[in-house]
This record gives sequence, structure tokens and C-alpha cells, in this order.
Amino acid sequence: MDTKRISSTLEQALSTQMNVELFQSHTYLSYGIWADDKGYGGIANFLMRHSQEEREHALKFMKYVLNRGGKPTVTGQSATPKDPQNMTDCFNLVFKHEVENTEKIYKLVDMAFEEKDWATWNFLQWFVKEQIEEETLAMDLIDKLKIAGGDQASDESLFTLDKTLGETPDEGELARNATSENP
Ligand code: FEO
Repeated sequence: MDTKRISSTLEQALSTQMNVELFQSHTYLSYGIWADDKGYGGIANFLMRHSQEEREHALKFMKYVLNRGGKPTVTGQSATPKDPQNMTDCFNLVFKHEVENTEKIYKLVDMAFEEKDWATWNFLQWFVKEQIEEETLAMDLIDKLKIAGGDQASDESLFTLDKTLGETPDEGELARNATSENP
């Protein structure tokens, strides 16, 4: 008996998004390495923890497709983007990546809506909310750096910003802690 409860189109699209989230994870890891190399250990720590969060997002997509009787596929990853030119560029890029990801999530929501796949539509709402948080977080980074003086920030301001971001609570959560409210 066929127990698959998701269309092949959505199975494929969610599998693609799993790979997009993995790519985001690699991208933040590479930015974290860049920041660490520049001597910003706190910012590096923040970016690397965010990389872990993106991996958890990928696992949520993986788990959901499997739960619906589908089978996601891990594809090879493209090379990560070039290193940022400076801290302003880095935070602007984080914001850009998040906005692009939001657009991808919205497309998936559209697809689920068109298919009347309410289970998938409901699953995706967690990501709709999460993207609001992620975009806000990226906007905050840009604002904090602006207040610190942007590219002209003094060493002291950057030191303080680095320290603050290094101490930002880790919001990453393991996929095995998922519930129906938090897939
Ligand atoms: Fe998984 Fe930052 O979006």
C-alpha cells in the first residue's frame, strides 16, 4: 500500500529547501571562520552558532518529508560565497541571505496552498515565523554596527560589539526536541 502522504512536487521542493538550509549553514560557518580570522571571536561564535541553527532547520525539513512518507535527497553543495569585505558587508550579507530565504519559504507556502496540502502549509508556518525572527536579528546586527560607528567604528566599539554578540543566548535547538507545535 502506498503510504506516501505528500505529492512528489512538494517532496522535491521541501528536499530542495533542506539543501538550501544546509547551504545557509555552510555560508554562516564560512563567515564565522572569516570573523575569527579577523580577530572577532565573539562575532565568529555568534555566526557559528547561527550556522548550527540553519542545520537544525535543514533537519526539520528532512524529518517532515520522512514523516510524510517521502525521501529527501542530500545534494552536493555549491561553494560558499566569497568572504565579506568588512563587518558592514558581513551583516548586510546576512540580512540579504535571510530575505532570500524568506522568499523561498513563501514560495513553498504558495505551493502547499495551491495543492491544499494543509499539513505542509501548517508545517511551513513555523518557518514563516522563524524568518521574521531571523530578519529582525539581521537588522539588529546592522543597527548595532551602525551605532558602533559602521566601518569607522573604533576598536573599542568593535570590541564591545564583539563581546555582546559573543554573549547572545544560543537559540539553536536540536531536531530531536521537536514537537508538533515546533516541528
Ligand atoms: Fe533557516 Fe536563516 O533561515
